[in-house]
Amino acid sequence: MNVVVGITGGIAAYKAVSVVRALVLAGHDVHVVATENALRFVGRPTLEAISRNTVHSDLYEGVAEVRHVAIGQAADLIVVAPATANTIAKLASGLADDLLGNTILASTAPVVIAPAMHTEMWQNPATVANIATLRGRGITVVGPASGQLTGRDSGPGRMSEPDDIVAAALSITRPQDLAGRRITISAGGTREPLDPVRFIGNRSSGRQGVALAEAAAARGAAVTLVTANLEIAAPRGVTIQKVSTTLELEATMAAASTDADVVIMAAAVADYRPETVAEGKIKKETQGDVLDLRLVKNPDILHGLVERRPVGQIIVGFAAETEEDPEALLALARGKVARKGCDLLVVNRVGWSEGFATEGNEVVIIDRAGDIVGEASGSKRSVADHVLDLIARPY
Ligand code: CTP
Repeated sequence: MNVVVGITGGIAAYKAVSVVRALVLAGHDVHVVATENALRFVGRPTLEAISRNTVHSDLYEGVAEVRHVAIGQAADLIVVAPATANTIAKLASGLADDLLGNTILASTAPVVIAPAMHTEMWQNPATVANIATLRGRGITVVGPASGQLTGRDSGPGRMSEPDDIVAAALSITRPQDLAGRRITISAGGTREPLDPVRFIGNRSSGRQGVALAEAAAARGAAVTLVTANLEIAAPRGVTIQKVSTTLELEATMAAASTDADVVIMAAAVADYRPETVAEGKIKKETQGDVLDLRLVKNPDILHGLVERRPVGQIIVGFAAETEEDPEALLALARGKVARKGCDLLVVNRVGWSEGFATEGNEVVIIDRAGDIVGEASGSKRSVADHVLDLIARPY
């Protein structure tokens, strides 16, 4: 998506760098339009390096290519962060005395603003009326938050956190096709302790499960994410329940799934656990040259969820396979979906360098009958959206 980030002249402009970065990392083509005052607070080279595009600020630059309207016409989304009281007043009056004003007036894209100012200015009747005008025109206002301001004062007026601005901005451009659905997702990899300091684990980072949770929340779902030893930060805007072992994951998923409309088991689950866990650290001196471990089978959580599912609940499993031949991989997946009884199985090949802890993923999705209903490759977020497409509408 082509996203214009408008930056205006307030101290919160330094936080706009994080807004730009988050949008770029989410895969968007970001074009910064900064006011001259914004560039007093944050440097053009910083914004150009982070946005990977030229920063525009001058109304009389690029006149031959009619830049004052071209940027707005090409935008799919405009985010103004921070939006000062002055900018808000200009927007409310439809003024276009700088490049940002022209860009917004010339655009039909949705506009999101993140106000930032001192409490007195935010509460001034002029600003209150301007904000009401903008809301009435369909502009989305994110924040402001309440907290420490630039001086010694604190109160409402602080710009919302960059991640919250980006989440709100992206959600308005996305269909809310999962609104009202409750989705429980597991992510990460379980760990089975051997003693107080050691465990048997796997290489799952939790990225795919986290991407599913973020994507589902952005599409309006109420998401519970059960995390097992995530290597990355848990997403915001979802309910998090932390576990570590397979038995903990089983109990937590069972409880979190009872009233869910959709359950997705993206976690990599240890199939076996040590039969006994040593109270103290296992010592070489007492073990000698060979250490025998006896492992016992863990429950199949997905299978258990399918057996006890409430009527109408959709259950999605993941299959991680190292089989290289695509036909043989599909045959394994068909056997797995039949054994587990889930509605959809997302199949991906994993290996020493594929699947785990990587940014991208390549999957085939099959239904209960073993038929291919989807294929997706790209970022884990786009794979997540593809899986959710199949859930949002009948396949
Ligand atoms: N799964 C589970 N409980 C287990 C093992 C796996 O719920 N004890 C779930 C995983 O979360 C995933 C699906 O089952 O959604 C398939 O996991 P995978 O590891 O590919 O398959 P396994 O059942 O472990 O079979 P195998 O190891 O023989 O491939």
